[in-house]
Amino acid sequence: MLINKDNLPLVAEDFMNDVHYEDVDIINDLYEKLLNYIDAETKENKNIVIDAYQNWYDHTVSHFKGEEDKMIELNFPPYMMHKGEHEKCLEQMRQVLDYFIKNDDKEFLKSYLELDLINWLVNHIQTMDTVTAMFFKTGMSPCSAH
Ligand SMILES: [Fe+2]
Ligand SMILES: [Fe+2]
Repeated sequence: MLINKDNLPLVAEDFMNDVHYEDVDIINDLYEKLLNYIDAETKENKNIVIDAYQNWYDHTVSHFKGEEDKMIELNFPPYMMHKGEHEKCLEQMRQVLDYFIKNDDKEFLKSYLELDLINWLVNHIQTMDTVTAMFFKTGMSPCSAH
């Protein structure tokens, strides 16, 4: 298991926490499949990793869209800033998958998941998602709080 759900920061909106838990399940599943592929380097195992990654990417698109739709609906002032972080993350996810498919670099993918991704996810939840969920819940934006 790469990420323990108990260590995931919680935000004020349960619909967001639920999606984050799903995300963690999918990432853990992907990580297990990558470890299997490192153990047994077959074409089939590589395809299993690619499918799991694609599944994670699709889930992330809808994870981010769910937050963005609600930000638009409730007129969240720093919408563009939050959406910008999502877009950068998706772009990096696509680049990492491309690189893995072309170069078959398992250690690169492994360290991306273990370091970059975990750091990004925890940091994003603790900052953007936390502030946004608080706004959804209370109508208080970080701008109007000052
Ligand atoms: Fe999120
Ligand atoms: Fe977010």
